[in-house]
Amino acid sequence: MFLLSVLLGGLIICPLILRLFFPYFWTDFVYHTELLRILLKFVSRRRRRPLFLALDRFLEQVEARPNKTFIVFENERYSFRDADRESNRIANALRAASVLNPGDTAVLFMLNEPAFIFCWLALAKLGCACALLNSSIRARSLIASFRCCRDAKVLIASEALRRAVEEVSEDLQQEDVSIFIMAEELKSSHMRSLTRAAQESSDTDVPRTLRANVTFTSPAVYIYTSGTTGLPKAAVITQTRLLAALAVLASNGVTDTDVIYVTLPLYHTAGFLVGFMGSVETGSTIILRRKFSASQFWDECRTHEVTVIQYIGEVLRYLCNTPKSERDKEHGVRLAIGNGLRPDVWREFLQRFGHIEVREFYASTEGNLGFVNYAGKMGAVGRVSWLHKKLFPYALIQYDTERDEPVRNSRGLCVEVPKGQTGLLVSRITGLAPFVGYAQNEAQTEKKRLRDVFKSGDLYFNSGDLLKIDHDSFIYFQDRVGDTFRCFQQLSDIRLLK
Ligand SMILES: *[C@@H]1O[C@H](CO)[C@@H](O)[C@H](O)[C@H]1NC(C)=O
Repeated sequence: MFLLSVLLGGLIICPLILRLFFPYFWTDFVYHTELLRILLKFVSRRRRRPLFLALDRFLEQVEARPNKTFIVFENERYSFRDADRESNRIANALRAASVLNPGDTAVLFMLNEPAFIFCWLALAKLGCACALLNSSIRARSLIASFRCCRDAKVLIASEALRRAVEEVSEDLQQEDVSIFIMAEELKSSHMRSLTRAAQESSDTDVPRTLRANVTFTSPAVYIYTSGTTGLPKAAVITQTRLLAALAVLASNGVTDTDVIYVTLPLYHTAGFLVGFMGSVETGSTIILRRKFSASQFWDECRTHEVTVIQYIGEVLRYLCNTPKSERDKEHGVRLAIGNGLRPDVWREFLQRFGHIEVREFYASTEGNLGFVNYAGKMGAVGRVSWLHKKLFPYALIQYDTERDEPVRNSRGLCVEVPKGQTGLLVSRITGLAPFVGYAQNEAQTEKKRLRDVFKSGDLYFNSGDLLKIDHDSFIYFQDRVGDTFRCFQQLSDIRLLK
């Protein structure tokens, strides 16, 4: 009897004790189970033969839900099957033009529009890598970005960017680049209409053998980040990285019933790797917008029954700055995912727009480590844990801001900071957490590598970010050092888009 009451009492008290002393026990438990499940899925996909690439996930979706809406853009709507066929047409048109061989790189210079996605799919089907140029660059920067992928011989641009291409077309012609524009009518002799060519091409599948030589280490996408030196660097996203990117939205609870609002540029990590890849993985619908608009944001969310939104930096503050409306809480958005949300804006955003789960995360385009704040702690970029650190070894080390380098002890090694103190985030480069670096830029790549960190000969990725871990195991972004400018670049892009 005594035992029974102890047991019963335990059943009631245990959860109370857990809640009191380990308030995040269940959230941690759920997150880690999910993390392991995703890793297992990733590993088993990596074992499949023939190779299973991100493109193959898209093809699985075409098979599984051909008629489901994949992309909505302005007045256009495309199902998964439509996207498959459109991309087949583009792929067949490019094949007929004989300008690309499997393994080549093509450069996309496009605005957010369905053709961006179709072109990427087409190039993936042809076994080609794809460089995603920032659509706001012009002239010298445009040429510099193009040259980051030295062997690129094809440029595909949006109709709206034709003038920008014309400005540099002489330089491109000298380098023997074939220029395609996604426009029906073109008067120029040195540019070809890909839209017309695609319309005249068949929508039959492209042979798989074209991708036979693609491996997990092949570059899939190049995404540009800029440094203080001004010239852009192209971060190499390998096929493995793309396969891992599929999981970002799925691991945050997004499923095929969700509708994702993609307003951030597709040429950046948030739009492409998180939004687009997230929809490919989950089979959800993308509401694609040419650019972010604070004034139309919620109306569009209501019209399209959006459930998931993305943000970077100041995006949510722009929403908070719009005039208040009685309908502010009238929408179906349940999840906001992104990075750079300040705690004051976070609080205001929730007060004003109602209960929306916010998943703030920390990651960089080229980096090999990420954190997710799955517990909703305002201001934190993630939560640290033994398991996560075991899988992805990292440390916060002492940093000398005067000399702009990590502090070294008498043995020449770095020094980990204690909990509660700010340090430079470094993460070990491993098979599970590789660092590939920048295209054609060994000097910048080497700058991100840090050697002899905790023992002689070890190798870490230098994030260039200062972070702090508190006593509740939350991790906070503090500052950025040296050459890392990516977030600011994204922010200025957003300003340009407004
Ligand atoms: C794959 O590589 C082999 C050997 O280098 C080559 O002969 C073949 O043409 C390549 N296939 C494709 C589709 O590029």
